[in-house]
Amino acid sequence: MPDRSHDRDGDNIVGGLVSLLDQPSRKGEVADCAYGPISLTGMIGILTAGGDCPGLNAVIRAVVHRAEEGGQTCIGIRDGWKGLMENITVPLDRDLVDEIVGLGGTILGTSRKDPYVHGDGLTSILPMIEANGIDRVVVIGGEGTLASALRLSQEGLPIIGVPKTIDNDIAATDVTFGFHTAVQIATDAIDRLTTTAESHNRVILVEVMGRHAGWIAAYAGIASGADAILVPEVPFDLGNLATLLKRRQARGKNYSIVVVAEGTALPEDLKGPSVKRDAYGFERLGGIANVLAPAIEALSGFETRVTVLGHVQRGGTPTAYDRILATRFGVAAADLALSGASGVMVALRGDQIVPVPLEEACARVRLLDPAIYEVAETFFG
Ligand code: F6P
Repeated sequence: MPDRSHDRDGDNIVGGLVSLLDQPSRKGEVADCAYGPISLTGMIGILTAGGDCPGLNAVIRAVVHRAEEGGQTCIGIRDGWKGLMENITVPLDRDLVDEIVGLGGTILGTSRKDPYVHGDGLTSILPMIEANGIDRVVVIGGEGTLASALRLSQEGLPIIGVPKTIDNDIAATDVTFGFHTAVQIATDAIDRLTTTAESHNRVILVEVMGRHAGWIAAYAGIASGADAILVPEVPFDLGNLATLLKRRQARGKNYSIVVVAEGTALPEDLKGPSVKRDAYGFERLGGIANVLAPAIEALSGFETRVTVLGHVQRGGTPTAYDRILATRFGVAAADLALSGASGVMVALRGDQIVPVPLEEACARVRLLDPAIYEVAETFFG
């Protein structure tokens, strides 16, 4: 196997945290964990959990290829943590994953079942870890999944995290894969909505995903020339929005596109009574535009229609950028697994892929950069 741990200049290709990477492969050893010893066999488990996202299959393919190159075997864990809790696994090899770099979704399936919410943490999965001879798990997930990965790694399970979410809100990485694809899908949709809004003299309120952060709303809004963008990070006033729309009409623009991120807080008087939550306790979002539209119409006097893009933003083929980022993450994750590292996540910093402690990734949500919103605001109205 070629030694890939160093580049031509002698720098570690995954950079940083060198001490973590200094650990030699521990195949054949026995590692201590809170519930007893785990024998290290050289088997890497791979799972995808939480909401799906374009690029998951590119990561799986990259991990399998790189691990095989390093003499190790991969096993696929079905439907996220559920597969580890219920022992549902599939063998993986490079022949099986060869053609999936551009395939959307995840060949492993996913779910929001969680070992801490629906089980007793490590004890609920340890028998399956041992039965399958898994000594390291590559966990591809977002905020909730990585938080559980951190807890499991603190309990002693060797884990390498890979950040995924179209929301782009994971700390410690400059970008998550899937975001670029979602922005492109939303931009294409808004471009189309703009021509019909103009033909009919309408305001169209386009709702995009973004639970805590307005990255998709801001990027797609800037790219498509939106006239106003509402994001969770920036409080807004409906009266000001209506004034902005009227100002546009006064200068001869009798249509407007307003982009709203699903996680934007509603004004107090429009908030509904009930909140639905998912397995991680996150509010089940979607539909804010339907609440806002009648209020915008009443205040502005303009016919206001709604398009909720929803899951179309997560589906289908990843952009070339996301395929490449996902592949780089997968290769780095396999390298970390081969080197015996644990409790780390691969991250993009500048143009380098680096390992960062899972603690750092889980410490906070990565909100929209105010400088990006400032750029967007330049074009409002
Ligand atoms: O976290 C990514 C995300 O796409 C959010 O933007 C959205 O609120 C959520 O997932 C939807 O998840 P689900 O498909 O489980 O309802």
